[in-house]
Amino acid sequence: VPLAGVIGMPIAHSRSPRLHGHWLRRYGIAGHYIPMPVMPEHLAEVLRALPRLGFVGINVTIPHKEAALTLADAVTDRAALIGAANTLIFRPDGKIHADNTDGYGFIANLRQNAPDWNPDAGPAAVIGAGGAARAVVASLLDSGVKELRITNRTRIRSEQIKAEFGARLIVYDWAQAGNMLDGATTVVNATSLGMEGKQPLRVPLDALSPDALVTDLVYTPLMTPFLSEAQARGCRVVDGLGMLLHQAAPGFERWFGRRPEVDEETRRVVL
Ligand code: ATR
Repeated sequence: VPLAGVIGMPIAHSRSPRLHGHWLRRYGIAGHYIPMPVMPEHLAEVLRALPRLGFVGINVTIPHKEAALTLADAVTDRAALIGAANTLIFRPDGKIHADNTDGYGFIANLRQNAPDWNPDAGPAAVIGAGGAARAVVASLLDSGVKELRITNRTRIRSEQIKAEFGARLIVYDWAQAGNMLDGATTVVNATSLGMEGKQPLRVPLDALSPDALVTDLVYTPLMTPFLSEAQARGCRVVDGLGMLLHQAAPGFERWFGRRPEVDEETRRVVL
């Protein structure tokens, strides 16, 4: 029976076990997906032991995403570019293959929930420059966005991303976040602001066009204050839950041999 799971610290809040458990039941696959709390100082030892215990791969979450990349034997280009891994595959010879499917999940969510979305229609504006933002930036550039504007409270992090991702990026000051939205056709909140228990994201939306597609990586609540403000201005909005669901699909397929569907039932199970 193939085993998979997720390692992080803490791990109790992770929704991945519910998601993968649902898919395993749905497709009648004999397998298990197990949440495992792992301390950073034990990561290397745990990664070496898991294949011997029958694990075919795992998801990796905070705080191990960067370290997992350096411990892997092979790394996909996109994981290297993002600088973090979220999906590991343990090969039969025991070698660890690291990938990052966050950017894929981000784009797949937009394509599923806003089929008319055209990344090429105009500039994209990304708010935030943390780990999640890096995956978003990589995938937007990959999708053909020609101009990508980015802003972050800590400006140096946006500048680091520009230095790595190149000429299509334009860094805006945090105080200019409202101006950054002028003419943007894709707008993304990649900060943790708007999450339950945190401050809402406060960006003036006067310059935001009603033609823009607006999305948020935060999915607790599904309709963040930022999304509902954008929706009130006539924008098409897509919540962040689908990114979580879609980023999980490639791992599930590689471990258990079946591409899982992401649909309404999947959303309900995870909520
Ligand atoms: P993740 O991997 O989820 O992106 P992260 O790397 O800690 O996590 O990044 C969190 C993002 O939310 C960053 O863009 C962070 O801004 P800073 O780089 O300035 O820290 C942003 N963020 C978190 N709390 C914030 C706040 N109170 N105001 C503005 N931005 C905030």
